[in-house]
Amino acid sequence: MKLRSVKGTSDVLPEQQAAWRRVREAAERVLGNAGAGQITVPLFEYAEVFEKSVGESSDIVVQKEMYVFEDRGGRTLALRPEFTAGLMRAFAEHGLHTRPLPVKLWSMGAAFRAENVQRGRYRQFHQVDYEVVGTESPLADAEAVQLMHRLLAECGLTRHVIVLGSVGDPEDRAAYNAYLRQQLEPRKAELSAVSVERLRLNPMRVFDSKDEKDQAVVAELDRPLDRLGEASRAHFEQVRRYLDAWGVPYRVDPSIVRGLDYYRRTAFEAHYEGIGAQSALGGGGRYDGLLKLLGGPDLPGIGFAFGVERVLDAMNEEGVLGPAARRPHLFLVPLDDEAVAEAATLATRLREAGTVEFAYQRRAPGKGLADADKRGATHAALRGESERARGVWELKDLASGEQRPASEDDLLALLESSA
Ligand code: HAM
Repeated sequence: MKLRSVKGTSDVLPEQQAAWRRVREAAERVLGNAGAGQITVPLFEYAEVFEKSVGESSDIVVQKEMYVFEDRGGRTLALRPEFTAGLMRAFAEHGLHTRPLPVKLWSMGAAFRAENVQRGRYRQFHQVDYEVVGTESPLADAEAVQLMHRLLAECGLTRHVIVLGSVGDPEDRAAYNAYLRQQLEPRKAELSAVSVERLRLNPMRVFDSKDEKDQAVVAELDRPLDRLGEASRAHFEQVRRYLDAWGVPYRVDPSIVRGLDYYRRTAFEAHYEGIGAQSALGGGGRYDGLLKLLGGPDLPGIGFAFGVERVLDAMNEEGVLGPAARRPHLFLVPLDDEAVAEAATLATRLREAGTVEFAYQRRAPGKGLADADKRGATHAALRGESERARGVWELKDLASGEQRPASEDDLLALLESSA
């Protein structure tokens, strides 16, 4: 039997790495330039860390999307379904609140959710995550939205749309959820099973339903943004003023609700048309209270994460994943047995400057050039008896077909230049 990868996981092959590198470098530059320090946390934690954070009404808990397992010591652990919880656990554990506030962190890596697999929805996926802890200022909210927009633009995207809303303070939410219960309880029969369950746990999430009948029912109701308390409304307006001043494009979505329970006030998402039903590239919001819930100090926080696979899908849609600028890549072709060892020895020296491969056996010139081509080399250098006698290699530019004798120093200079 041929073994296969687990459904919903994927391999990233060598030729796909450049695109991943582009995303990673964009994150490093954009988030690093904003003063965020990179942090790496474990792929698994005590399940409690996540259960407490994402909340009992989140899909992750309700739909049992978390990969939970018991280790040999009988501890209940879970693979991380997202980054925020682990980052806040680490923040509390290392007392990062003693650093100058606000503290900004970013991370990139795999996350795991046992979901129904479809385009854009995987069981192992990757996120770029950004968090700011220690400020209530709406400036931090606006900055997070701006950074998400900027980061997607740095990845080459032009067609992403930012939607912005507010889910209010806990008191606003409680009052709003009471209103929704009152409105929706009598109409339960018209709602989908998922929405009935959401009505019980967190009525606001009914707005998240894709079901048309659910949508028709909630379309008549006040939306989260219509029922904000004074403080969260003022906060929201302030966030908007900053974004307007900076020229960050966004659309207000009065019914935005996020899939995780820890949000309050600002909530936002980035969407992209053309990558299928899972159009959310990323999302985030404010989560004041979460750090305290995990045993840390009572410091407010805000952040976002985007899904790397979805961003790559969008980059592909926009055609920004063309061949990257290439560095020289030299393939050495020994034309006789003696040249095999010479090629290997030369490669060890030249590799200090660039990419060098060689054939492990004597090759005929035509075969050797074909090998070089197949390996994606930009240049081939051939050596047989006559080249040895002259102390050179016969260098061929595989793109132009140009050919000239080259000393070992010439080859070194070629590799040091950029193609
Ligand atoms: P989230 O909305 O659950 O937020 O996930 C953020 C992004 O991760 C989604 O917009 C999507 O692009 C990607 N994503 C989520 N699940 C999958 C999946 N199964 N397959 C592929 N991509 C997926 C969070 O995770 C929050 N921790 C974001 C945050 C940070 N809020 C504050 N700080």
